[in-house]
Amino acid sequence: MTHPVLTALGLGASESGTWLGNGEWSRTSDAGVLEPVNPTTGEVLGRVQASSQADYELIVERAQAAFKVWRTTPAPRRGEAIRLCAEALRTHKDALGSLVALEMGKSKPEGDGEVQEMIDIGEFAVGLSRQLYGLTMHSERPGHRMYEQWHPIGLVGIISAFNFPVAVWAWNAFVAAVCGDISIWKPSGKTPLSAIASMKICNEALRKGGFPDIFFLFNDTDNALAERMVDDKRVALVSFTGSTRVGRIVGERVARRMGRSLLELGGNNAIIVDPSADLKLAIPAIVFGAVGTAGQRCTTTRRLFVHESIYGEVLAKLKAAYAQVEKKIGDPTDPANLMGPLNSQGAVDAYLDAIERAKAAGGTVESGGAALTDRKGFFVLPTLVTGLSNDAEVVQTETFAPILYVMKYSSLDEAIELQNAVPQGLSSSIFTTDLRNAEAFLSAAGSDCGIANVNIGTSGAEIGGAFGGEKETGGGRESGSDAWKAYMRRQTNTINYSDALPLAQGIKFDL
Ligand code: UN1
Repeated sequence: MTHPVLTALGLGASESGTWLGNGEWSRTSDAGVLEPVNPTTGEVLGRVQASSQADYELIVERAQAAFKVWRTTPAPRRGEAIRLCAEALRTHKDALGSLVALEMGKSKPEGDGEVQEMIDIGEFAVGLSRQLYGLTMHSERPGHRMYEQWHPIGLVGIISAFNFPVAVWAWNAFVAAVCGDISIWKPSGKTPLSAIASMKICNEALRKGGFPDIFFLFNDTDNALAERMVDDKRVALVSFTGSTRVGRIVGERVARRMGRSLLELGGNNAIIVDPSADLKLAIPAIVFGAVGTAGQRCTTTRRLFVHESIYGEVLAKLKAAYAQVEKKIGDPTDPANLMGPLNSQGAVDAYLDAIERAKAAGGTVESGGAALTDRKGFFVLPTLVTGLSNDAEVVQTETFAPILYVMKYSSLDEAIELQNAVPQGLSSSIFTTDLRNAEAFLSAAGSDCGIANVNIGTSGAEIGGAFGGEKETGGGRESGSDAWKAYMRRQTNTINYSDALPLAQGIKFDL
């Protein structure tokens, strides 16, 4: 039986995973089938026909043709297309939020929050469509004018992950669209239904508004088509969200063909709690950061550094809070629950394996540390581990699960050094009411991450800022601020309106 959440969004038990544009979903039925699983029950939610090589080729050809029209469509007009998409998403927020919760396994408020992020970036992109500013420069030559302008880059390939199955697409696709680009989406094989539903909502909005197809979608079962896109010279930019292991391959392969990549890879985010911290804020922030989305955000809090003078108090408070969360683990579509399942059995295995490695390295499990075997689905307990040093292999590695390593420190310099001493560099925060400590943490000698916060947690970034991180997080920035520049090419223009031809740098070249 088709789940009612799917029916509410006009999805059936079997769907094409390929939007070809021109009003067509592909009829390909011999390229494999994806069977996304409801992580709450372990049952198959629906069947999605994967895309063929021919589908991929048709998509790229149509995307190229669409780009020729879209690149010269005035940017504010492109903004209008995205305004309509954001409006349609607002109408379908409840249903799409429920589908995200159902298919990914995050809580209903977080599923709705993810759709809200799509709406927010859509509205941001509408404003941006009138602000794709270039600079003007003063030429060193008389009678010359210099300026720069930003042109669309072309086709943008978006490879997104299961944990934010729809928002990450919107961050990329909506900004790319106002920049004049056409995007091609390859969602996670674990969450194709959320992707198909998002495409249907936006396609319908574009069609009603009389806009051409600017978004395309394909799905594959074995990454062959995703790899083809990574190697495809016609795709100017590949935006990849996922593991550092795969991102490294994507970055290398795109660089080999001199393409552009935008990488959003793993995090190993830490919170520092100093002696002056307001624990009323710190404790819930730590718990949401570590346990929210069952620890499956790239911004999830994975390490906690607590000043030795308050270590015992903080640990006791965390244990009490974790005991509360344990009572609210269950079906994520039920808004009463705070934590849903992990997304797959593989994730449960990785969680259990990390706990074994933590124990073998001398760690103590203070809370949690087990899978919930009394029920169907992929549920685990949120887990606190103490007694490990920051350089333990398991602490250095991102495990996509709700495991928090709690460590002690004695000086702020030491805490900052420890927080930076991991390969990843995405998000970080400090809880303090001491101005000096806050500013030291944010200074050039402070956090080395792309995101550094004071008195809020590591996750839940707003769309207005540029999102991304340093080191093995990949260096990419997407979403707000001037992240749009990644989706455009800069052109420097010098215009001579004089009747002479002076050369730059005062060079004389008399014929
Ligand atoms: C991710 O986990 O891939 O900052 C993105 C956050 C969200 C996005 C996370 N706004 O937690």
